[in-house]
Amino acid sequence: MVETDKYASGLIYYYQDYFSSYDGKIERVLEVGIYKGGFLYFLDTQLFKDRNVKYYGIDIKIANTDERLSELIKDRRLVLFAANQNKTAQLVACAEEIKQDGLLDIVIDDGAHGFNECVNTFNTFWPLVREGGFYFIEDWAAYMYYPDNPTYKSMRRVCDFILDNAKDSGFHDLEFIFHPAPRFSVIAIRKNYV
Ligand SMILES: C[S@@+](CC[C@H](N)C(=O)[O-])C[C@H]1O[C@@H](n2cnc3c(N)ncnc32)[C@H](O)[C@@H]1O
Repeated sequence: MVETDKYASGLIYYYQDYFSSYDGKIERVLEVGIYKGGFLYFLDTQLFKDRNVKYYGIDIKIANTDERLSELIKDRRLVLFAANQNKTAQLVACAEEIKQDGLLDIVIDDGAHGFNECVNTFNTFWPLVREGGFYFIEDWAAYMYYPDNPTYKSMRRVCDFILDNAKDSGFHDLEFIFHPAPRFSVIAIRKNYV
C-alpha cells in the first residue's frame, strides 16, 4: 500500500477510472504537492505501469520521500524540485528545466489548495501541457467541509478563474467534479486538440 491521502478521499479511484481506457501518449507527468511521493509511486507501479513515464514532483519541502522511489530518482525517471507555489520565479525555474525534456501530458495540482498558489501554478504549467494533455486541480470544494479555513475558501475563486479562462485558453473539456462520499473534488481540464 502506498502512502497517499487519495485512497481516503477516493481520488485515486477517480484517476483509475479516468485513465483506465485512455491509450494515448503519457510520457511526462508532473505532480505539484507530492507529500511523500506515494501517488507518484502508485502511478508508476500501477496505473501507468510499463509505460516508462518520466515524473516530476514539486513540493515546498522535499523530505521523507517514499524510499521505494529511490530507483526512479537514480534513473532520472523522477525529478524532484523544492519550490513554493507562492513564488512564481521558483515555479518558472522548474518549468524551464522540465521544458528541456518536452511538453507535459498530465499536470496534477495537489499542493497548497489556495487561490494564489493554484493560479501561479496554472499560469506556469498550463502552457507546458501538450495538446490533448490533462490538467487537474484537486480539492476545489474542500471549503465545504472546512468552512473556517480561509485558504480552502479561496478555492471558490479558483473555479471563477478557471471559468474565466475557459473560452480563450484552449480548453477542450472542463469538468468540475464533486463527490460528497467519498469526499473529493477535482477540476479536470483537457487541452484543445484536433
Ligand atoms: C495533500 S499533500 C499532497 C499529497 C500527495 N499528492 C499524495 O497524494 O500523497 C499537500 C502537499 O502540498 C505541499 N504544499 C503545501 N503548500 C505548498 C506550497 N505553497 N508550495 C508547494 N507545495 C506546497 C505540502 O508540503 C504537501 O506535501
